[in-house]
Amino acid sequence: MTDDTIKARHAALAAEIAEHDKRYFQEDNPSISDADYDALRRELEDIESDHPELADGSITSGIGAAPSGAFATVEHPVPMLSLNKALAESEVADFITRVRRFLRLGADDPLAYTAEPKIDGLSISLRYEARKLVVAATRGDGAQGENVTANIAYVDAVPQTLGKDAPDVFEVRGEIYMTHADFEALNRRLLEDGKRPVANPRNAAAGSLRQVDAAKTGDRPLQFFAYGWGEVSVLPADTQEGMIAALRAYGLPVNPLTRHCESLDELLAAYLAVETERANLPYDIDGMVYKIDRLDLQRRLGERERRPRWAIAHKFPAERAITELEAIEIQVGRTGALTPVARLLPITVGGVVVRNATLHNADEIARLDVRPGDTVEIQRAGDVIPQVVRVLKEKRPKGTEPYVFPDHCPVCGSQVVAEMNPRTGRPDVVRRCTGGLVCEAQQVERLKHFVSRAAFDIEGLGAKQIAAFHAEKLIKTPADIFTLAARDAARPEAERLVNKEGYGETSVQNLFASIESRRTISLRRVIYALGIRRVGEISSRVLALHFKTWEAFREAMGLLATAAKERSAREEAIAKGTSLDDVAGWSEAAEKGLAVRAELESIDGLGAVVADALEAFFGEQHNIDAVDDLAGEINVEDEVARAVDSPIAGKAIVFTGSLEGMTRDEAKARAEALGARVVGSISKKTDIVVAGPGAGSKLAKAQALGLEIWDEESWMKNARG
Ligand code: IVH
Repeated sequence: MTDDTIKARHAALAAEIAEHDKRYFQEDNPSISDADYDALRRELEDIESDHPELADGSITSGIGAAPSGAFATVEHPVPMLSLNKALAESEVADFITRVRRFLRLGADDPLAYTAEPKIDGLSISLRYEARKLVVAATRGDGAQGENVTANIAYVDAVPQTLGKDAPDVFEVRGEIYMTHADFEALNRRLLEDGKRPVANPRNAAAGSLRQVDAAKTGDRPLQFFAYGWGEVSVLPADTQEGMIAALRAYGLPVNPLTRHCESLDELLAAYLAVETERANLPYDIDGMVYKIDRLDLQRRLGERERRPRWAIAHKFPAERAITELEAIEIQVGRTGALTPVARLLPITVGGVVVRNATLHNADEIARLDVRPGDTVEIQRAGDVIPQVVRVLKEKRPKGTEPYVFPDHCPVCGSQVVAEMNPRTGRPDVVRRCTGGLVCEAQQVERLKHFVSRAAFDIEGLGAKQIAAFHAEKLIKTPADIFTLAARDAARPEAERLVNKEGYGETSVQNLFASIESRRTISLRRVIYALGIRRVGEISSRVLALHFKTWEAFREAMGLLATAAKERSAREEAIAKGTSLDDVAGWSEAAEKGLAVRAELESIDGLGAVVADALEAFFGEQHNIDAVDDLAGEINVEDEVARAVDSPIAGKAIVFTGSLEGMTRDEAKARAEALGARVVGSISKKTDIVVAGPGAGSKLAKAQALGLEIWDEESWMKNARG
């Protein structure tokens, strides 16, 4: 390359990286994988090491992006550094050689390290003064970050106070992250609310922490691991390991996979051990961080270009792989959405065997122009469902045709449509089967939803069992679940469930008992269980609190559907040229239905989109039949009446810490059954805080606000009553 082309390439790389930095650090919305980003940075760094004149003022000397402006700025008294990276083992060996040379250590002089997982979250600095948390700040550009103290108050894993031996001034550094389970729950909720899902747990953590309305951080559970420090009045230890032990002793969570190592081989063994465990961890890590253990050596080594010489990040290989796409299959979801799935020649990606990858929708297939028989690159983004990122067109076999998305449902044969998206006014990217409950796939998916955790939550009757019962034609509708035992008893002995393969006496008895125990159930669960589009847990609760009884809800829905039918009949008549005077007037039921519609639209948390969805659902006779059959089998508890004589009825209650006597879900269900509202975050409007062992910031906040605080014992006493 000539000097000019090198210069041009350098400028182009710098601009591209700056754009990616902005997307990653400020917008929490990266558009390329970490591996691709690292490749860009390496190319830039390579150019700069050959042409140091180009490095001047380049982004390789800065880290991240300046604060976004939504939060107050905090100066970091000690800058927050970044890490040099190693991809190959030889680069780790080079690191050790460099360190030894720098310290003038002989080949046999001992040198100890720590090997810690590199948590894929966002780094944070927590400043404690006199053991109280005074400021929490994001990294920002390393010199200045954003003040997120108010948000951190909602992160239980971050203690508001440190243990008694902690130094007077102690700036703790570590990583805020979100677990896979919480990430998936968040995305479910976002989808339910018609919002765009978040790409990966790291972005979810960053977005959740940087909520301008701090209380919103409390609705999105975040975790924390401490691994470093900034300004400290008196260092409590003289090694990295000792510091980690001190952090733990002060009450800060530290990562349990941290190891002490004394050689390259031990570092690599630690790397391998964690990499093997990686797929089983409940959170994302993207490598290991090796640090020189002795702090005096760390000081001597110092830093260069905002990266310490005493540490290196040994990244795990990118979680990408190349394989063959054998077929494109279409899955039909609960609401009829058709999702194309790539069936792959099985391949190991990041320690996990991948057989399927999502192709998202018809548009995505067209964009990639992916065809059965193609060689494709797949990626496991943030340990969630793998996706196809690229087709290796040069490897395409001859004679393939572009994939044609089906226009009829592959399960029931009904027509497939692209509905209008009410938000954009354009046809939706999602294609849907119009078969409703006629479609067996939708039947099964609706049943699975019906028995899911937040719905009927029937023990021993999960997705797997539902699929089996459905295949055996024993359960086709929700009501069938509640008639299962009676139908079984009416059958000749030999045909009963107990005599079927895979079912034993006790398991059948338990199953029937748990079905029986859910025959009486809250209105909000029933509404949610119906699986109406756009009616998720939150809307279901709002609807239940509004209508209070099953009868009121059911009647309102009937009226709503009647009004909708008359409305479309009128619209059709008018469209055909019937004059307004000749169009039949509204029936009495329809008039009432219009009032229901207006009511729904005005309720905070519902609105026109939910009203449309309810209209559509209750406008279908097969849905009405299924709903009424179900209602005939169950007892729906009223939202208010059942709460009258409970001491917590109508109160807003927050659970924090752990409970020994029951799970958090159980406690939540119990509190709701007693008429309380369970809320995630503490405010002046909270009535009761139940604090179990390990309660942290929420308890502190409750005390500060002077709220009523119960221990587990008082909770149990009241929960029983
Ligand atoms: S030490 C002075 N240790 O990785 C060294 N960083 O690429 C500063 N990270 O900004 C970092 N786990 O956000 C360190 N065990 C760990 C880490 C870790 C995750 C993140 C951190 C840092 C980034 C550097």
